[in-house]
Amino acid sequence: MSPTGLFALSKCLAVLCITLSQPVLGASKQPNILFILADDYGYHDVGYHGSAIRTPNIDRLAFEGVRLENYYVQPICTPTRSQLLSGRYQIHTGLQHSIIWAAQPNALPKELPTLADKLREEGYANHIVGKWHLGFYKEEYVPTNRGFDSFYGYLTGSEFYYNKTYCLAQINRSDVCGLDFRENDRSINESEYSTHLYAERTKQLVADHTSAHPDQPLFLYLALQSVHGPLEVPAQYRTPYKHIKDENRQIYAGMVSCMDEAVKNVTDAFKKYGLWDNTILVFSTDNGGQVAEGGNNWPLRGWKGSLWDGGMRGVGFVHSTLLKQKGAVAHQLMHVSDWFPTLLNQAGGNASSVKLDGFDQWAAISDGAEGPRTEILHNIDPLNGKRGKRTEEVFDNTVRAALRMNKWKLLTGEPGNGSWVPPPERELPTKLDPSSKKQNIWLFDIEADPYEISNVAAENPEVVKTMLLKLAAYNATAVPPFYPPYDPRSYPENHGGVWGPWM
Ligand SMILES: *[C@@H]1O[C@H](CO)[C@@H](O)[C@H](O)[C@H]1NC(C)=O
Ligand SMILES: *[C@@H]1O[C@H](CO)[C@@H](O)[C@H](O)[C@H]1NC(C)=O
Ligand SMILES: *[C@@H]1O[C@H](CO)[C@@H](O)[C@H](O)[C@H]1NC(C)=O
Ligand SMILES: *[C@@H]1O[C@H](CO)[C@@H](O)[C@H](O)[C@H]1NC(C)=O
Ligand SMILES: *[C@@H]1O[C@H](CO)[C@@H](O)[C@H](O)[C@H]1NC(C)=O
Ligand SMILES: *[C@@H]1O[C@H](CO)[C@@H](O)[C@H](O)[C@H]1NC(C)=O
Ligand SMILES: *[C@@H]1O[C@H](CO)[C@@H](O)[C@H](O)[C@H]1NC(C)=O
Repeated sequence: MSPTGLFALSKCLAVLCITLSQPVLGASKQPNILFILADDYGYHDVGYHGSAIRTPNIDRLAFEGVRLENYYVQPICTPTRSQLLSGRYQIHTGLQHSIIWAAQPNALPKELPTLADKLREEGYANHIVGKWHLGFYKEEYVPTNRGFDSFYGYLTGSEFYYNKTYCLAQINRSDVCGLDFRENDRSINESEYSTHLYAERTKQLVADHTSAHPDQPLFLYLALQSVHGPLEVPAQYRTPYKHIKDENRQIYAGMVSCMDEAVKNVTDAFKKYGLWDNTILVFSTDNGGQVAEGGNNWPLRGWKGSLWDGGMRGVGFVHSTLLKQKGAVAHQLMHVSDWFPTLLNQAGGNASSVKLDGFDQWAAISDGAEGPRTEILHNIDPLNGKRGKRTEEVFDNTVRAALRMNKWKLLTGEPGNGSWVPPPERELPTKLDPSSKKQNIWLFDIEADPYEISNVAAENPEVVKTMLLKLAAYNATAVPPFYPPYDPRSYPENHGGVWGPWM
C-alpha cells in the first residue's frame, strides 16, 4: 500500500471506521477540490454580470474558467448546502421546508453519505472552513462526524461577523443568544472579521497539508459567511463605495469586495504551495441575493427565499487547468445537486454506486458536451402557506412547488416575493405580470422569458398538465418533511453561553 493509502487508513481508523473501501492508487493524480460557497450572493452582485461592485479576482478566475450561466441552486441556505453535500433533492431528505433553525433537533439524515464521506473513501483529506448549517443537535451531526477531518467556523445559519454571536429568531424572547464559533469539537472565541479568519485558516490548512501529506488529495470546502447579513465590514472595504446612496448596498458592496480579496488570498495559497495546477475550483452562491440586506438579482425576478429565478439562478463558475475548454460559458442546465457526482467521479470514485438526484456535469463543463440534465425539481414544500383554491386533480396546486422541464418552468402555490428590484440606473420591465394574490399556477418559457414576466399557462394547457403529472410523480417519491419545534434545552444559557450539540 502506498504511504498515502496507509495515511488514509490510519486516519480512517482514528475515526473508528473499520474498512477503507478502496486502496488509494495513483493518488497524486486525483485533483484537489477547492469549493468556495458564497452566502446570499446575488445575481447582479458580481462584476462579470455587469455589477457596479468590483470583483476583479472573481472575474479573472471566471473568465479563465467556465462560467455557468444556466446554473441553479436552492432559494435558501440549508436546502442548497444539503443538496451540495448529499446530492439529493429535499423531497428525499425531509428538509423541504425552510432552514434548520438553531433550536430545532433536526439535521441532514445520517443515512445519507456526504460528499466528504465519499471523498474520504477515495483517500482525500477533507476540511471545512466557515458555515455548516446542516444541523448539530447531536455530536454525530457536526462536520467532523460527517466526513470532515477538521472544522473551523459556525454551526448555525448566520451570526455577527466580529463577535460570532447568533440570536435565535422567531421567538417570544429576544435574548436567546450565544457564541457560535468552533474549532473541531470545541467552542472558541475570536473577534476578528470572519472573512479574514476564514481566508487565513484556509491558507494555513493548505500549508500544513502540503508539508505533512504532499501526496494526499485535498478537498477544501470554504463556506464563507460573506455576504449574508448582518451588514458588517471593516471600513476600508466600504470606502470605495461611498458614492452609493443606499447605505445597505454600500456596506454590502464592501463585503463583496472583501470576499473577492479572500478568494485571491486563498487561490494564491494554492499556487504558492504547488497545488493549483491539479485543482478544481468551484465558486458558487448558495441562493439569490437578499434584497432587504443589500443584495440584487437584476434582471431576474424575485428575492432570496422565493422560487422565482432571482431566488435560485445562481452565480457560479469552475476554474481548473484540468478543464479542456477555458474562457467559455456553459449554457447547459445545471443544479447544485450535480456537484456530488461531478466531483466524486473526478476524484476517482463511482457516483453510480450512490443513490443521487444529481448528474455528472464534467463533460458539459470541461468539453462543452451536451448536458445530461433536462429537468430540475426546484422543490415541493407542503408546509409552506397554501395559496388559492385547489383546481388541479393530479397535484395540489395550492402547495408551493416549482419544476423546470427543458425550457419550461411551472410554479404552484405561493412562490415567495416576486418583485424585481433593479439597480438605480435601470428601469423595470414594462410588461409586468400582476400576480394576483389568488393566482397559484404559472408557466414560463425561461429561454424566451428568463425574467418570468409573461405567464403562458393558459396558452399551454398540455404543458401544464404534463408538468403537474411530473410533479405528482416526484411527490410520490417524497419522504414527509421534518420540521420539529424548538427545543429550549438547546438555548445557550444552558451551555455556558454557546451554541452546540445538546442531545
Ligand atoms: C455583537 O455585535 C453586534 C453588532 O455590533 C451587537 O449588536 C451585539 O450586541 C454584539 N453581541 C455581543 C454578545 O457582543
Ligand atoms: C408569546 O407570549 C405570549 C404572551 O406571553 C403568549 O400568549 C404566546 O403564546 C407566546 N407565543 C409563543 C409562540 O410562545
Ligand atoms: C489578504 O491577504 C493580504 C496580505 O496578506 C491581507 O492584508 C488581507 O487582509 C487579506 N484579506 C483577506 C480578506 O483575508
Ligand atoms: C459503478 O457502480 C455501479 C453500480 O454499483 C456498477 O454497476 C459499475 O460497474 C461501477 N463502475 C465501476 C467503474 O466500478
Ligand atoms: C403528495 O402526496 C401526498 C401523499 O399521497 C398527498 O397527501 C399530497 O397531497 C400530495 N401533494 C400534492 C402537492 O399534491
Ligand atoms: C417584496 O418586495 C418588495 C420590493 O420589491 C417589498 O416592498 C416588499 O416588502 C417585499 N415583500 C415581502 C413580503 O418581503
Ligand atoms: C467571548 O469574548 C468576549 C470578548 O472578550 C466576551 O465578552 C464574551 O463573554 C466571550 N464569550 C464567551 C461565551 O466566552
